[in-house]
Amino acid sequence: MSITFYKILHLAAALSLFAVLGGVLMTAANGIDKEKNRWRKKAAIIHGVGLLILFVSGFGLLAKNGLAFPAWAIIKMVLWLILGALLPFAYRQARRATTSGDNAVDEKAGDLLWWLLLGVGFLAAYVGVSWRGW
Ligand code: HEM
Repeated sequence: MSITFYKILHLAAALSLFAVLGGVLMTAANGIDKEKNRWRKKAAIIHGVGLLILFVSGFGLLAKNGLAFPAWAIIKMVLWLILGALLPFAYRQARRATTSGDNAVDEKAGDLLWWLLLGVGFLAAYVGVSWRGW
C-alpha cells in the first residue's frame, strides 16, 4: 500500500473518531446515559474501528517513512490512548448526572473532556505535520 493511501486512512479514521466523540460528548452533556443512547452500538463500532485504523495506518506511515519508533511516536500513542478513553469517560459523566437524582450534568467534567478532545486533535496534527523539522 502506498504512503498516500496510509495517509488517507489515517486522516479519515481521525475525522471519524472526532465526529463520534463529539456526538457522544454532546449527548452526555445532555444527560443521555449509555443505555438511553440509541446510537450507542453505532458509536461503539465507529469508535473501535476508527481507533484500529488510526493505529494500523499510523504504524504503516512510520514504516513507509523508514522510522522505527521515534520519541514523538510515544506522544502519538498517548494521544491515541486518550481518544480510546474518552468514550467511556463521556458515558461515565452522563451516568453520574443521571444517578445523582436531579439530572444535573457535571458541566466541569464535560468541559474538561471537550477541551481534552480539541487539545488531542491540535497536538496530533502538530506532531504529524511538523516531525520532519525535528
Ligand atoms: C498510534 C498512534 C499514531 C501513530 C504511530 C501515528 C503516526 C503518524 C506518522 C508516522 C505520521 C507522518 C506521516 C507522514 O508525514 O508521512 C502521522 C501524521 C499524522 N497523524 Fe498520526 N499517528 C498516530 C496517531 C494519531 C492520532 C491519534 C491522530 C489524530 C488525533 C493523528 C493525526 C495525524 C495527522 C493529522 C497527521 C498529518 C498527516 C499528513 O501529513 O497529511 N495521528 N502520524
